[in-house]
Amino acid sequence: MMSSAPTSPFPPLAGLCPWPDAFRDALGVEECVSWLKRLHYVFKRLHEVLIVRLTSEPQYELKTALSLHAYWCAEHTQALRTRVGEMREPPLGLDVVPHAALERCFDEIRATPGTEELVVGLYGVVFPALAAAIDEYLVTTNPLADAPSVRVLRFARLEIADAITFGDGAVRAVTTPENRMALDEWRTYLVAWLNAAGGVSGRTTETVPPAPRYSAKPWAFDRVPKRDARFHDPYNAGVNPEAFLHDTRFSASDKLLMLSYKRLREIDVPEMMASILAETKGRPWEFSLDMTRQLWDEARHAMLGEVGFAKLGVDWSQIPINFTWSLNLNTQLNARERHAVLFFIEQGLMPRQGKRYEWEVAQESGVPLAAVFQDFDWADEVLHAHLGRKWYVKEFKDLKEALAYGDACWSRVMSHWRAYRDQGLTGHHNWWPEVYRAACRTWGAEPDPVALSFAETYEAKRADLQPIAAE
Ligand SMILES: [Fe+2]
Ligand SMILES: [Fe+2]
Ligand SMILES: [Fe+2]
Repeated sequence: MMSSAPTSPFPPLAGLCPWPDAFRDALGVEECVSWLKRLHYVFKRLHEVLIVRLTSEPQYELKTALSLHAYWCAEHTQALRTRVGEMREPPLGLDVVPHAALERCFDEIRATPGTEELVVGLYGVVFPALAAAIDEYLVTTNPLADAPSVRVLRFARLEIADAITFGDGAVRAVTTPENRMALDEWRTYLVAWLNAAGGVSGRTTETVPPAPRYSAKPWAFDRVPKRDARFHDPYNAGVNPEAFLHDTRFSASDKLLMLSYKRLREIDVPEMMASILAETKGRPWEFSLDMTRQLWDEARHAMLGEVGFAKLGVDWSQIPINFTWSLNLNTQLNARERHAVLFFIEQGLMPRQGKRYEWEVAQESGVPLAAVFQDFDWADEVLHAHLGRKWYVKEFKDLKEALAYGDACWSRVMSHWRAYRDQGLTGHHNWWPEVYRAACRTWGAEPDPVALSFAETYEAKRADLQPIAAE
């Protein structure tokens, strides 16, 4: 057959594939759509499990990776929805569960009590199974006729490979000689659910499903943020970094310590935004996509703080990183009210004294990396204010009303500054002088005596402080 094609000195078929692959005739549109819908379901459920577990997951590196991988899954879910929509007329049935056993596999992982089983379930079972199903699709479908699907899946496959690489390391980190056998058994158990569903693709013979384990009980989202041991004294609000940052007596280079603190503290935003996503129903997928993008940005900003501290030669685990913002919002407000507070605060970052000011401080500091980080942080926060207008403000008559509601919700959040101290949860110890002195030692610099005497707490402030620069 190939010999019947007229010859040309150019590569054939726009470089999509060699001739033999163009002859593949295994799948028509109907079969491709049903396979793609299963991949879509897996991405969607992965996104859900990654999101609903990150607030209560203590390990910082996992919190940030769950945020990133949730964002990737949200993007690929969207791409597959679009692709299915190109191939079929509505209703597309994208909300239909393709197989009860596939659903159960995710319900089991979502409900696992511990980090180890969560990590093995996501990264040791589901991501690799998804990768294998995509690889199989790519060698089965006609790469010329179905080129748009191939394009979407090749891109997804790149990011899944990165998630699996991270996951391999995470699985090694959670596996011990003591739990190895139990984790192997858990892996086998989850694979049995996938097999009962005919695999991710649904194209293998369905086997007998195992008995439900954790998913036998009704599942509930855990709103209480948890942190690992490096985040000691998390109720401590004995230092007010915004007050330091806006005090003209202090140098820009000293202010970098407070900027790094504020960036790292942003890990509380994913902890809070995950609760909005977990508890908001009936929104279009684009809402989940946009909110997850923002959630990931906030996790990324926390890592900018982490890297910022490393650049300054400071061990951040010596500093109490406060977590009461996510704790109080998650436990005192409903999802809509939390979104209102988020928008109110982020809108407050837009004026002159907000993100621009932080960037100027970083520029003035003489540390180019700090200026780069603040520049991108600023750009991201402008995007977030835009996303807030897109999803939150639309529900109000105008911006003024939306802001007033956010302000009112914010005012209702109790900071419990004194209560935390009276209950013995924290002494609100002023950590600044030790941290500043240690940093100066590392830098070989003399501490500025005025900066050293800084001792302003959050006691007299609303949980947020000023409406500007609250995050
Ligand atoms: Fe932020
Ligand atoms: Fe930020
Ligand atoms: Fe933001």
